[in-house]
Amino acid sequence: MKFKALRIHLEPELIRSIEVIDETYLPDNDVLIEVHYSSLNYKDALSASGNKGVSKNYPHTPGIDAAGVVIESKSLKWKAGDRVIVTGYDLGMNTFGGFSEYICVPSEWIVKCPDQLDLRDAMCYGTAGFTAALSVEQIVNNVSPDAGEILVTGATGGVGSVAIAILAKLGYKVVGASGKPQYEGFLKGIGAERMILRDEIDDHSGKPLLRPNWAGVIDTVGGNILATALKSTQYQGHVTCCGNVANHEFTTSVYPFILKGITLHGIDSVMCDAVKREEIWGLIADKWYIEGFSNAVLEIGFDEVIDQINLILSGKHLGRTIVNPRK
Ligand SMILES: NC(=O)c1ccc[n+]([C@@H]2O[C@H](COP(=O)([O-])OP(=O)(O)OC[C@H]3O[C@@H](n4cnc5c(N)ncnc54)[C@H](OP(=O)(O)O)[C@@H]3O)[C@@H](O)[C@H]2O)c1
Repeated sequence: MKFKALRIHLEPELIRSIEVIDETYLPDNDVLIEVHYSSLNYKDALSASGNKGVSKNYPHTPGIDAAGVVIESKSLKWKAGDRVIVTGYDLGMNTFGGFSEYICVPSEWIVKCPDQLDLRDAMCYGTAGFTAALSVEQIVNNVSPDAGEILVTGATGGVGSVAIAILAKLGYKVVGASGKPQYEGFLKGIGAERMILRDEIDDHSGKPLLRPNWAGVIDTVGGNILATALKSTQYQGHVTCCGNVANHEFTTSVYPFILKGITLHGIDSVMCDAVKREEIWGLIADKWYIEGFSNAVLEIGFDEVIDQINLILSGKHLGRTIVNPRK
């Protein structure tokens, strides 16, 4: 079987090429899947740039998620024809990833694609949407829609934009914080009540606590923006943390926690267990489904992946982008 995949080489220099390869390139795992769609995520941009913190060995095929149809299975859990989703674990990191027409993965990495979700829709959400939904779950479980505004940072990014759209659907008043003033219309279009500029939530005053603006915060960027969010959340508010685009380190004091009872929730989509995965995909496909969201998603072929990756690395990427390996 011959098929196309995006290959990243580091020797003698960084080369990204679309290559025709065969199944000997695929790892020997239980389930062979025909990929219908993958999606672009921040980690793909790092892996496709030779970042050894994400992918140690090259040549490599990135793509940390995929939705497709099972072709062959050695596992009793899956059979040919099943519609499935794979996100997280090691896909696209040190395991041959979703920027390919086929992947071969361990059966336990796979989740059934809910019947009411088509495979394209599944990747419109993808890893970023799944992570957004895990973050929204913490807000829904702990903050009522009438408690006040919810701040979402990295608002025009993949995780941020899906989080805004789901929260708005659930009746929350959402404020999107962004470094891109030109996308205010986009943010309002997906459900944000208002936009604020990133600088307004990046406090360098040294004060231990700030005006309590937010009932909850979904932070996707980390660094001083996360530290500022902790200082400016209301009494007993909830803050989620999933990303490190701004910085992987942040400095805080104990005061948001011991004077205001703030809770900080860590969000991990990579090793999240199978039961939680099915529950969250079920919500995405049903009660949390965002009508028309897939219309706001850009669909590209392998030949456009590098341009989009450059936008991600420069912080200019907008919303969600899906990759169709046969486009
Ligand atoms: N924990 C998990 O399981 C998990 C899963 C998926 C993703 N993540 C992480 O979540 C983060 C966001 O992922 P994503 O897919 O949404 O990425 P993305 O689509 O590239 O979006 C990131 C957004 O962050 C903002 N941003 C960019 N550079 C920034 C900077 N220097 N300072 C502050 N904000 C900046 C930009 O939005 P604005 O211009 O609108 O501010 C950008 O669009 C990444 O760190 C990713 O690794 C974690």
